[in-house]
Amino acid sequence: MAGQAVIQIRNMHKTFPGVHALKGVDLDLYPGEVHALVGENGAGKSTLIKIISGAYTFTEGTYLINGQDAGIKNTIDAIQKGISVIYQELNLVPSLSIAENIFFGRLPSKLGRVLWSEVYAGAQKYLVMVGLSVKSAMKVQYLSVAQQQLVEIAKSLALDSKVIIMDEPTSALSPKEIKSLFEVIVKLKAKGVCIMYVSHKLEEIFELSDRISVFRDGARVGAMLTGETDQQCLIEMMVGRKLSDMFPEHNRIFGDTVLEVTGLTTDKVTDLNFHVKRGEIVGFSGLMGAGRSEMTRGLFGADKRSAGHVFINGKEVEKDSTGAAHAAGMGLVTENRKTEGLLPNLSVKKNISIASLNQFSKLFHIFPRREDTESNTLVDKLRIKTPSVEQLVTKLSGGNQQKVLLSRWLMKENLKLLIIDEPTRGIDVGAKSEIYTLMDMLAKQGLAILMVSSELPEILGMCDRIYVMKNGKITGEFNREEATETVLLEKAIS
Ligand SMILES: Nc1ncnc2c1ncn2[C@@H]1O[C@H](COP(=O)(O)OP(=O)(O)OP(=O)(O)O)[C@@H](O)[C@H]1O
Ligand SMILES: [Mg+2]
Repeated sequence: MAGQAVIQIRNMHKTFPGVHALKGVDLDLYPGEVHALVGENGAGKSTLIKIISGAYTFTEGTYLINGQDAGIKNTIDAIQKGISVIYQELNLVPSLSIAENIFFGRLPSKLGRVLWSEVYAGAQKYLVMVGLSVKSAMKVQYLSVAQQQLVEIAKSLALDSKVIIMDEPTSALSPKEIKSLFEVIVKLKAKGVCIMYVSHKLEEIFELSDRISVFRDGARVGAMLTGETDQQCLIEMMVGRKLSDMFPEHNRIFGDTVLEVTGLTTDKVTDLNFHVKRGEIVGFSGLMGAGRSEMTRGLFGADKRSAGHVFINGKEVEKDSTGAAHAAGMGLVTENRKTEGLLPNLSVKKNISIASLNQFSKLFHIFPRREDTESNTLVDKLRIKTPSVEQLVTKLSGGNQQKVLLSRWLMKENLKLLIIDEPTRGIDVGAKSEIYTLMDMLAKQGLAILMVSSELPEILGMCDRIYVMKNGKITGEFNREEATETVLLEKAIS
């Protein structure tokens, strides 16, 4: 590419105890380009971002900004040098106005008095730039995740950022919100801002980026112009091997009904009737906000049920009790794995075994060897990247934390029904196909599986039967043979 790079990284190394997270990475970022980073879970993408943005120091290497030694001391220093990160966990102060957040720590003032009209008008200008039509005096707490993300972008514009880094920015956005984020990115690009974009969604990468860097195992193994490559080639470079079909063949045989739900009603969902058979994978499709996650919460007893019945193998499950759901053989992997499931102060092993401790203990005595063997087996099976099962779970990369939560339920002995909300969100392509194979294998062993997914290819590729939801109600039911993207979308929208 022509011109001077804004950021130059040379021979960058980063080590953590037991982990060589970056191994001699070179990278140039240019003004006005969208540069995508792709790679398997644990490949080192977030580590590199944290170094560039001053959150981590590096072990060895050079880091230049506009040809000069970056010398970044911390994240505030990085922001002052023109580098901003839009995190997935948002960093705004909810109780303050949008304008106060945009000018946080540097409100325009005169003689010690804040010039509020300038604050609001100034902020409004940046909101217009990111296409957000709300008043800048509004408090951040009333905004959706997508809107907050746009405020973060407005804030980095106000800081005159030259490089804006986005780490999986669309994972909590609806298709419409994603579209408007992309429009903003195109505008930023035209202004000469460099966008570094990390995502596991390859369609996004192909739509947005100019160049792609592929990371594997701490090294940058590939660099290409987006126009000169394709998905298959990219996937092979990411996983370092040929991937055959993404989805397993459909040759499952169903048994008796395991789950029967009649008239399930909570605050959020109305009169849901559905069932799942032994050996069957049933999907719930629909748009964001259709009530699918709320369905799983009502089913599992986490949300109060005002009407309806849930049966497992013909036996009614006591309502409003997750303990009863658990005892009846139900397992739930939630969508917000970070906030709802992970035990941050514990090891990988404890996080895996927590739901099945009774299997390893007798009169409060835990059998550590079985706990070790079984968690090690799962770590291998799901290819969880960790130096050992004793590692603190928070030290794993985002995608590997997800796999830990998934394995928690796979270890449970009396599991009859597994409910998975967005089974592969944030998970790389290689691991995705492994999770699909694993789900197929579990179904073949007699488990009933209910999955919620926003990805239509995943729904169509995996499910034997599909329910569509809209506004808290089931609006359609399709067999595998009848289902197409079009009919599912029709029922989700109309
Ligand atoms: N603070 C830390 N302490 C110890 N190990 C760490 C720490 N942060 C990251 N690692 C390790 O460094 C490696 C790279 O992790 P990183 O988070 O950069 O991966 P990633 O490419 O962002 O993956 P994902 O797609 O899953 O988010 C992993 O093996 C991870 O476990
Ligand atoms: Mg990451």
